[in-house]
Amino acid sequence: MLILGLETSCDETAAAVIEANQKIIVLSSVVSSQIALHSKWGGVVPNLAAREHLKNILPVIETSLQEARITAKKIDLIAVTNGPGLIPALLIGTNTAKTLSCVWGKPLIGIHHIEGHIYANFIDRAKSQNNKKIKFPILCLVVSGGHTQLVLMKDHLRYEIVGQTLDDAAGEAFDKVARILGLGYPGGPAIAAEAKKYRPDHARQKQKTTLPRPMLKSKNFDFSFSGLKTAVLYTVKKNPQILKDNGLISALCHEFQQAVIDVLIAKTRRAAQKYNPRTIMLAGGVSANEELRIQMSQTIKKEFPRAEYHLPLAGYSIDNAVMIAAAGFFRWQKMTSAEKKAAPNNWKKLTTDANLKLK
Ligand code: KG4
Ligand code: ZN
Repeated sequence: MLILGLETSCDETAAAVIEANQKIIVLSSVVSSQIALHSKWGGVVPNLAAREHLKNILPVIETSLQEARITAKKIDLIAVTNGPGLIPALLIGTNTAKTLSCVWGKPLIGIHHIEGHIYANFIDRAKSQNNKKIKFPILCLVVSGGHTQLVLMKDHLRYEIVGQTLDDAAGEAFDKVARILGLGYPGGPAIAAEAKKYRPDHARQKQKTTLPRPMLKSKNFDFSFSGLKTAVLYTVKKNPQILKDNGLISALCHEFQQAVIDVLIAKTRRAAQKYNPRTIMLAGGVSANEELRIQMSQTIKKEFPRAEYHLPLAGYSIDNAVMIAAAGFFRWQKMTSAEKKAAPNNWKKLTTDANLKLK
C-alpha cells in the first residue's frame, strides 16, 4: 500500500510517501526545516512555526508526491502526527490531513509523535537489500527534544514506559547548554561538533571541569537533566573566560555530552538487565549523536551479546514524515475490517492533542 505521512509537531514541515507491504520502502521524504527562522530566538516560537507550516505544507506535500512519482489518487492511507507537540504547529498538519482525507476520500490515521520515532527503526533499506528482522521484546531508548523515555514493547504498538525524565529531555538539555555557550540552535549537532574537537592530551584542555551524572546510581529507570544544565551554567558563571576560549568550550561540550551519554547508557543497561530484551534500539533526534550510537553499541555488544542493537537509518532520527507513515502502516495492519471501512470518515473525529499519551 502507498501511505502519505505528514509531520508538523515542532519546527519541521514534513511529508513523505512510503510503499509498505513486506517491507517499508521510502519513495519520497521532504522536510522543510525552520531552523534558520527560530535560531535567532534560541528555540522554537510556536506561532512563527505555525505560520511557516501553513506556508510550506502544501508545497511540501506536492513535492513528496512528485518525488514518489505518484498522484493523490494512488494514496491508500494518510497518517498524520496528532500529538504531542506545539498545538499551533500540530493543527496545521492535522487540519491539512483532514481536509485531504475528506476531499480525496482517503482513510486517515492519527499517529503519536513518539510512536513515529520508534517506528523509524522499521524503515527498510532498498527493496533489493536484506533487512534485519526486529525481534520482540524491544527496549527502546527514546531521546528527543521533548522526550526521554525507556519504552518496553512486547509486541507492535504495545508500549510500557518503564522510565522517563523527571524534568528536561536530553535534547532539551543539549539545546539549553548550547544556548548558554552561545553555540546556536539546535544545540545537539553543535555540541557534538565541539565535543569532537576536544583533545585530552592538550595541556589546557586537561583542566576540564567535571560535571555531575544525575541519577546515575538511582535504582529506577528515570532521568533528570536540568541539574546538569545548571551545572554548566554555574561553571560558565564562575569562569566566564571559558566563553572566550574555543579549547575550553570544546572541553566543556565533551564533558557535557559524555555526562548525558553515561546516564543514558547506565539506565538502558539497568532496564535491559531487568527486562532481558531481544532488541535494544534508539529513537528520536538525540539518537543521531554519533558518540551515543557508538558507546551504546559497545556496551550492548559486551554486556548483552544476545540482544540485537538497532538504530534508525541515517536521516530518520530527527523529525521526518517517513516515520509517521511507517507507524501508520503498523496501525493499519492492526485495525479490524470494520475500522478500516470507517477510516475514510476519520477526518470528522480526529483530535489534536498537545499532551497526547503514548498507548
Ligand atoms: O526528535 P527531534 O528531531 O524532535 C523532537 O521530537 O523533539 O529531536 C530534536 C532534538 C534537539 O533537541 C536536537 O538538539 C537533538 O535532537 N539532536 C541531537 C543531535 N541531533 C539532533 N542531540 C545530540 N546530538 C546530535 N547529533
Ligand atoms: Zn521528534
